[in-house]
Amino acid sequence: MEIDVFTLFPESFAWFECQRHVANAVAAGHRLRYVNYRDHTPLRAGQVDDTPFGGGAGMVLRVDVVEAGLRAVYGMDPAALPAERRVIALTPAGRLLDDAFVDELAREPALTLLCGRYEGFDQRIVEHFTSDEVSIGRYVLAGGELAAMVVCDTVLRKLPGSLGDERSALEESFSAALEGGPEYPHYTRPAEHRGWRVPDVLLSGHHARIREWRLEQSKARAATRPLP
Ligand code: 6GU
Repeated sequence: MEIDVFTLFPESFAWFECQRHVANAVAAGHRLRYVNYRDHTPLRAGQVDDTPFGGGAGMVLRVDVVEAGLRAVYGMDPAALPAERRVIALTPAGRLLDDAFVDELAREPALTLLCGRYEGFDQRIVEHFTSDEVSIGRYVLAGGELAAMVVCDTVLRKLPGSLGDERSALEESFSAALEGGPEYPHYTRPAEHRGWRVPDVLLSGHHARIREWRLEQSKARAATRPLP
């Protein structure tokens, strides 16, 4: 997998890059690359955004600036790019990211993530240069960078070699193994703390019963925590 992140703040990804599963994914041959729109702007003084036509608060990322960045990196007309690879604009109005969508993205050979800032993107960027608009939840972030990290985090951890134990990604919240439900509770040593005991079944060594108990727990959680 090859992921290119277009952003005005590439340095904000430094912490993300240090995360174990991200470092593992990179060591396994996956690639993460950051492109600063400002490095490719055709405008003077590093300008990348402008005031919205029609008035209103905030600044809007310019279509000519994003075109120049995409053209510089891919060496082609960015209007033809969405036919070649998944190009994703991160916007609060986009398609909600969920586990099934992450699986879909994890099957792609390459992703391009476009982070917006301020009031977001000139709509022509979204319309002509992208294949998808993605949101990570029903709230507004100050910029797309955190959302891009969420997309990268969730996608990379699905790739072979990212997690220490491949089983971690199989039976987890929202997975098919748990019929889309939340994960069951986990316990570790000590078996008792302040009189709070670990459920006996988990100490029984009876794998079939443990399986059954975990699925039950997942279902009970699903019933009390309905998804939106
Ligand atoms: Cl992708 N971007 C911004 N700015 N806010 C968001 C979001 C994205 N997803 C949820 N809120």
